[in-house]
Amino acid sequence: MLKQEPQDGEQSLADPNFRADVLSGLGGQPRAIPARWFYDRRGSELFEAITDLPEYYPTRTETALLMQIGPQLGALAASNAAVVEFGSGSSAKTPILLRAIDPAAYVPIDISGEFLRHSARELSAGFPGLPVLPVEADFLRPVPLPPEVSGLPKLGFFPGSTIGNMNAFHAVDLLRAMREWLGEGARLLIGMDRIKSPGILVPAYDDAQGVTAAFNLNLLERINRELAGTIPVEAFRHRAIWNADAARIEMHLEAQREVEFSVDGRTFAMDAGETIHTENSHKYGPNGGRMLLRAGGWTPIREWTDPQDWFALMLCEAQPLRMAP
Ligand code: AVI
Repeated sequence: MLKQEPQDGEQSLADPNFRADVLSGLGGQPRAIPARWFYDRRGSELFEAITDLPEYYPTRTETALLMQIGPQLGALAASNAAVVEFGSGSSAKTPILLRAIDPAAYVPIDISGEFLRHSARELSAGFPGLPVLPVEADFLRPVPLPPEVSGLPKLGFFPGSTIGNMNAFHAVDLLRAMREWLGEGARLLIGMDRIKSPGILVPAYDDAQGVTAAFNLNLLERINRELAGTIPVEAFRHRAIWNADAARIEMHLEAQREVEFSVDGRTFAMDAGETIHTENSHKYGPNGGRMLLRAGGWTPIREWTDPQDWFALMLCEAQPLRMAP
């Protein structure tokens, strides 16, 4: 999950990338704002609450799976591996992996320095002998790994099905970039959410307590706060839709009536029923998931799923790329 530096409410200066994405996203057709902007302080808290919801199965399922396969991972990982985690290092999943494979070093990479330092301190306390070498960087750009791990075999860790929040084009770009950073011979353990019944998927993104709705609507509050917006938040409703053709859950904010508002001095008008598309969460079947990894330069070598086949952990390797045949 991509986390943003916590914002200090009204005093904070708006991120120019946030302003640019919001203005072009609200002005475009269809209207869409990238999901990465969900994660201000409140959004990150709401996401943590989502991971505990009874309907939101991915976190629970992946964590249980990781615990179950720990001994196998221990046997598959190189004894002196450096684990490089892309995104959040705060989750319960990291200690499970570290305990299972007993690595030589742990490199958490996160865009939020404050968050990164906090979780690095917590992990160091739990693993006293382990060098924890945090890197503050946006892993969507080239990531310099610390020199201490340059000679060590690498195991990338990208849990949570965060890859699903990108379309296939960007997911492949990211996988290829990870291959560059980690190097040939590296391995990657990646979580992917599986295609399943909309009866399970839709409630996971539209829960009975309304936490996901609050998470989605918080984006409008953030725009109002940070970009001098006048969006009437109460006029919008959270929508979660299963798009079977694209195999993804889409989150939208739907105007319940005709609205007119301004953001950063620019005026926008929406009809009743019009939406702002705020997130895609792609789901993969076994073949689609493997194909995505191969397209990104990673050869699948093992995969594990829970008994219901709801979530998969895939282990893959950056093998030398050979020309056909
Ligand atoms: C971070 N990401 C993997 C979550 C997902 O399931 O796509 C974000 C999320 N959006 C709504 N609920 C959870």
